[in-house]
This record gives sequence, structure tokens and C-alpha cells, in this order.
Amino acid sequence: MNVNFLDLKKQYGKIKSELMRELKTVCDSQHYVLGPNVKALEEEIAAYCGAKYAVGVASGTDAILLALVAAGVGPGDKVVTTPYTFFATAGSISLLGAVPVFVDIEPDTFNIDPNEFERLLKRSSKGIKAVIPVHLYGQCAEMDTIRSLAHRYSLSVIEDAAQSIGARYKSRGAGSLGDFGCFSFYPTKNLGCFGDGGMITTNNRRRADKLRMLRGHGSRRRYYYDIVGTNSRLDEIQAAVLRVKLKYLDGWAEGRRKNAAKYTELFGKAGIGSSVTVPEIRKENLSVYNQFVVLAKKRDALRKYLSANGVGSEIYYPMSLHQQKCFKDLGYKKGDFPVSEDAAKKSLALPIYPELKEAELRYVVSTIAAFYS
Ligand SMILES: Cc1ncc(COP(=O)(O)O)c(C=O)c1O
Repeated sequence: MNVNFLDLKKQYGKIKSELMRELKTVCDSQHYVLGPNVKALEEEIAAYCGAKYAVGVASGTDAILLALVAAGVGPGDKVVTTPYTFFATAGSISLLGAVPVFVDIEPDTFNIDPNEFERLLKRSSKGIKAVIPVHLYGQCAEMDTIRSLAHRYSLSVIEDAAQSIGARYKSRGAGSLGDFGCFSFYPTKNLGCFGDGGMITTNNRRRADKLRMLRGHGSRRRYYYDIVGTNSRLDEIQAAVLRVKLKYLDGWAEGRRKNAAKYTELFGKAGIGSSVTVPEIRKENLSVYNQFVVLAKKRDALRKYLSANGVGSEIYYPMSLHQQKCFKDLGYKKGDFPVSEDAAKKSLALPIYPELKEAELRYVVSTIAAFYS
């Protein structure tokens, strides 16, 4: 049997005619940038996440970058985040001339450890302007503590919800929990477009206005520039695709949760708990399982074995950000964030997309069990 790590063709096949109809409408209109689909999608995403405003941008990376600019982060400011995330989270901070300050993750959720965050702030909060909690793999970070610390130390909270559209924390949607919520519509995300795309949510009208200006070179009126911005717009083709897919998103997330529950049951029965740890979802969280990531002993050998037996997998992420060459000047060293470093050594993402059949899940788990026996 072959089980691909991700098979977007299966999803595409089911909604192809609907997508083609909407794409044709956009092409017939010849209106490609900031048109009716972007406007409607912004309203739909804001409502979906429980935020007041949403601003479409060119990618999840730009969402973080522009949220940082709108939060007033600039050269020399410090921004706290986790070293165990996709590069864009910390890269955007650096690109602005600001300084990423890393805080280790919790071993069970892979999200920023609020206790470590508090310890850092107590040691020294000087120069820290914002915090970016990342809702990794589809599960929200521990937002109550993060928010109350941010409030106490006057920090902006920028949620990196790139992997977590539709996730809930204490019944509230990812993207509505901080000052800004940043989403990615990269094709592998739960809500993916036909290329790159992103969105920023906020509950504050002034911030939403600023973001709208920033994505259009800082102008409110054509050829008059009040601030310096950039070109970071979501286009009509992507918005039309996303509007079709948004209708199915909750059903797809439900399919992912069903698969995760099945994996958990099958791993439990396989009796390999000393070699493979399945992900934990906290009771206050509803995960959308953008990824199902296990911690596995002999991870690299297991991955090779899975590949040889037709099972696709991925490593998110093989090296913690504090150990990356480009961040050498930050002065971190091996051992500074042991939980992140351990996750980088052991994490393995297994196929979790909603179209998977139970027989395929069984095959993945039995192949892993065979490796350890
Ligand atoms: C956690 C996280 N942050 C940011 C991004 C950046 O999003 P994009 O690839 O749309 O720029 C991604 C997606 O790859 C991500 O997974």
C-alpha cells in the first residue's frame, strides 16, 4: 500500500467543478486585485474566527511582518517567540531589524511555555515590545497566561495562527485571542489556496486601517503616501478559491480530528508507547490538526523504513531556530532550549488529511509497529 504524506488531488477532485466556475467568473470579470472576492473573504474570515476585521495579504509571512509593523515594532526592539516553529515567525522579526528572543516550548503541545515566558520577563523585560505565540500543528498556545503577562508588561500579542485556522481555545477562535491573528493560505494549510496568500485578523479598527494601508504602499488615497508600506495583496483568484473551500473547512477539520482519534486508538493498541508518543490536545483546546506529529525514538531510521514501505512523512522541524546559522549573532547555543532541541530530534509528522481511509491509517501504524518489533 502507498500512503502519501499529503494528497491535495483528492480534495481538488471533489470540488473541482465549483472551483472552476468561480475561477471563470473572476477571469470573465478581469478584476484581479482587491476586488469583490477579497472583500467578501475578509468579512467571512473575520466572522469565522470571531474577530471584527480581517485584511487579506500576500502570504502568511507578510501577515506576520505587517502585523509587527502595525504593532510599532522596529529596529532594536525585542520580540519573544518560540524557537520551534516555521522560520517565518522569527525571520519576520529579524527582517525588521528587531531581535527575536526565544522561549522554550512545552513538551506535550509543542507551543511556547508560558512559565518560561514569565521567567524571562521577570529576569528582564527591557526592550521587549511584543510576543508571537505560535499555534503549532493546529492547537492554540496557552493564551490566558500569555495575554495576562503581555498586558502586565504592555506587549502586543501577535498570534501566528498560520497552521490553525478554525482552532479554538476555550471556545474562542484562533486569530481572535490577541491584538493580531496571522494566517497562511499556503496550499498545505487546512485552508489552502492555489499559490500564496495570507490574512490578518484584529478586533481594532485603527489597526485594521493601518494594515490596509501597509499592504498598499502606505497609501489611503491613490498616489498619496502617509506611511511607508509595501505591495502585499491577496488577489481575486486566490480569494475566489478560498471562498469555495471555506464552506468545507469545518468538515475537513472534523475529518482530521477523526483520523487523529483513530491514530491514538491504534497506537494505544500497538503497544509501542515506549517508542512513539502521540500528540496531546489540552482540554481547553479544539485542534484542527494541520499536522499529526509524534515523537519517535530512532526517528530518522523510522522515516526511512516508512518511505521504503510506501508511507510518506515529514519532519517539522529538524533544527530549532536558535541553532540556525542566520541567527548565530543572537548568541544562543546548543542546550539553551532543551525541549525544542529534543522535539527537533524526535518529531515526525504522519499523514492526517481528511480523505485518508481507515485502512491507510491502520497501515501507517502497523508499519511503524513493525519497525520497532
Ligand atoms: C507557523 C507558520 N508561520 C508562518 C508561516 C508562513 O506562511 P507562508 O508560507 O504563507 O508565508 C507558516 C507557513 O508556512 C507557518 O507554518
